[in-house]
Amino acid sequence: MENNIYRETAEYLKQRIAQAGKQTARVAVVLGSGLGKLADRIEEPLTIPYREIPHFKTSTAVGHKGNLIIGMLGGSGVIAMQGRFHYYEGYTMQEVTYPVRVFSLLGVDTLLVSNAAGACNPDYHVGDLMVITDHINLMPNPLIGPNFDDFGPRFPDMTEVYSPRLRQEADRIAAELGLTLQHGVYVAGTGPTYETLAEYRMYRTLGGDACGMSTVPEVIVARHCGIKVFGMSVITNQSADLKNGAVNDENDVVLQADRAADRMTALFTRLITHHS
Ligand code: HPA
Repeated sequence: MENNIYRETAEYLKQRIAQAGKQTARVAVVLGSGLGKLADRIEEPLTIPYREIPHFKTSTAVGHKGNLIIGMLGGSGVIAMQGRFHYYEGYTMQEVTYPVRVFSLLGVDTLLVSNAAGACNPDYHVGDLMVITDHINLMPNPLIGPNFDDFGPRFPDMTEVYSPRLRQEADRIAAELGLTLQHGVYVAGTGPTYETLAEYRMYRTLGGDACGMSTVPEVIVARHCGIKVFGMSVITNQSADLKNGAVNDENDVVLQADRAADRMTALFTRLITHHS
């Protein structure tokens, strides 16, 4: 994939944003399964379907729409992805992470990511919100291939992926809102299968608190280009080995994410306001 196709997309979006009399934002948000609600709260939105954007793919996952929404949230500018691209849909890692590099070219310096995740930590409950403190990547690394030096270094540091400042701010906001948060490690697998019982046990043994099929590719590419990251998982199910034989169900995952969406939206909205 050529470096300059990112620029073509960024130029197109800059034009659309300017034509609509709007400004690009410093904060971008990626909304996971069932969490697209936050996008409905964006004021004075400019909605651009992915299919209109040069080089963007269309999202096919359940509970995902495919729009870029540019507008105001809590008095601050924001650019939101309503629906993300997953590796399990058959996209390449370059396609999955494409929007993040475009955001970087648009001047975004902070990325908020959300996802639906299964709990490996036996103390977690369905409906919990988990601040991602770190991750374990079991997916192919999106930076494999020629390095684009314009975006970042060949060997990016990964010791502090999730901004401690943003995490602190989230804790403070959660206290204000009376929300309880979990804090844990997110394990990313490719999917599309949910984990076997042995795999859930393995994730727990490895130090994982929650697991899912997204987020980490975008986060790695964001860190590569120096974007600060905050990540949050909505716990939609417990590891299958913790719940006495009940199996995982995709509709349940979307339903549980939907239930938690209001709390997560409140937190993200304030985080964006405080951060801008
Ligand atoms: N495993 C992987 N991905 C998921 C899960 C899970 O248990 N729940 C929601 N997304």
